[in-house]
Amino acid sequence: MSLLVSSVRRLSYPVLIAASTLLVVSVYLLSTRGQGVPYLNTAGRTTITPQPELADIDDTRNNTLGFEKIFVIGLPSRTDRRDGMILQTAISNFEFEFIDGVDGKDIPDKAIPTSHELKRLDNPTLGAWRAHINAIQEVVRRNLSSALIMEDDADWDVRIREQMHDFALSAHALTQPLKGSSKFSDPTFSEAGNGPEAVPDLTFGKLPATAAPMNSPYGDNWDVLWLGHCGMRFPFPDKKIVPKGRVARPNDVTVPQHKHLWSIYEPSDLRQQYPSHTRVVHHVQDGVCSLAYAVTQKGARKLLYELGLKDMTSAFDIELRWFCEGTGEPNRGRHTCLTVEPSLFQIHLPAGPKKSNSDISDHGEGLQEKMTKVLRYSVRMNAEALMDGRLDQLVDQWPDS
Ligand SMILES: *[C@@H]1O[C@H](CO)[C@@H](O)[C@H](O)[C@H]1NC(C)=O
Ligand SMILES: *[C@@H]1O[C@H](CO)[C@@H](O)[C@H](O)[C@H]1NC(C)=O
Repeated sequence: MSLLVSSVRRLSYPVLIAASTLLVVSVYLLSTRGQGVPYLNTAGRTTITPQPELADIDDTRNNTLGFEKIFVIGLPSRTDRRDGMILQTAISNFEFEFIDGVDGKDIPDKAIPTSHELKRLDNPTLGAWRAHINAIQEVVRRNLSSALIMEDDADWDVRIREQMHDFALSAHALTQPLKGSSKFSDPTFSEAGNGPEAVPDLTFGKLPATAAPMNSPYGDNWDVLWLGHCGMRFPFPDKKIVPKGRVARPNDVTVPQHKHLWSIYEPSDLRQQYPSHTRVVHHVQDGVCSLAYAVTQKGARKLLYELGLKDMTSAFDIELRWFCEGTGEPNRGRHTCLTVEPSLFQIHLPAGPKKSNSDISDHGEGLQEKMTKVLRYSVRMNAEALMDGRLDQLVDQWPDS
């Protein structure tokens, strides 16, 4: 020690300063080589890297529609809805698990994230938000590569597997790079915020060849696929941040005539801009009703962060819309959310008092016939014939006239 001190004493101050600076810099460089954070073990990193094998687009027709799991959200007390959903998924040969709905009054103030004085929303809205966040939390907890989350009154067409397969082809055209290139056919996808206000439609059946996806049969670059809603808009031209690409499919036999379409926005953009029987896949703008949506693992983590941990100021579907578009307060950034019009999943209304349609909103007084809007060959409306195997006797609920 004294030797070191005396030898140090013999050195002049400029040499000492230079030597210690060198020491500090080299220790720092060694500790941070190859990574930004000192002492970080990269084996434990939690970023999601693509799997080496290719995804198989035919998996879109499997019993979980090409997602790793299907979750159905519903209150355990609504046994009528559980009966309906169990029968419908059995008829369609889907595998799924229930996620229990939540009664908003059981949610304590402390559990509602807010950075301001809490403005507690009504209990049904809070309950629905919590049920969806629980489903998303489950996707993250189980490390599922993707999951389809739907509400327990959803209905679909008997041709849902072909529709999902074709939706996947459209999703590839909008979000996968072109084959052998790093470019995308929609220039506003890669350069969101910078591109033109509109791009020409891509036409289903003449889609460009794209790189095969590795993570999901629907593509590697999405966060949310909003497949069941009660209204969407086409991205606004002046809203530069949302990509403008669309895939249009004219003469889709599963789409009814205009007069049988239904949207919360009437007349809908779809009805105004395209002829009858057209289906359009595009990016989310102004979505309403979270009836059915798929998430990737990456998307679920971001949703849990943005919608579970940040200020809860609005209903879940509105916050999902903000998450997609990069709007709202607090701003949650833009994410890649594709949707389809008309919606592939629709709300089924059972026969009986209109009051039982929702535990959230008021659907009025009186009785209704059982029905599902927009879907031509609804599984629920054709349940009897399907159970009997009378496939030649299925009924088109919304025939052309
Ligand atoms: C359906 O396909 C997805 C994606 O490849 C896969 O993760 C899932 O396990 C498959 N489901 C069934 C029931 O085979
Ligand atoms: C989660 O899944 C990814 C992709 O399959 C995998 O690399 C990672 O190790 C998994 N994490 C855990 C904790 O299982």
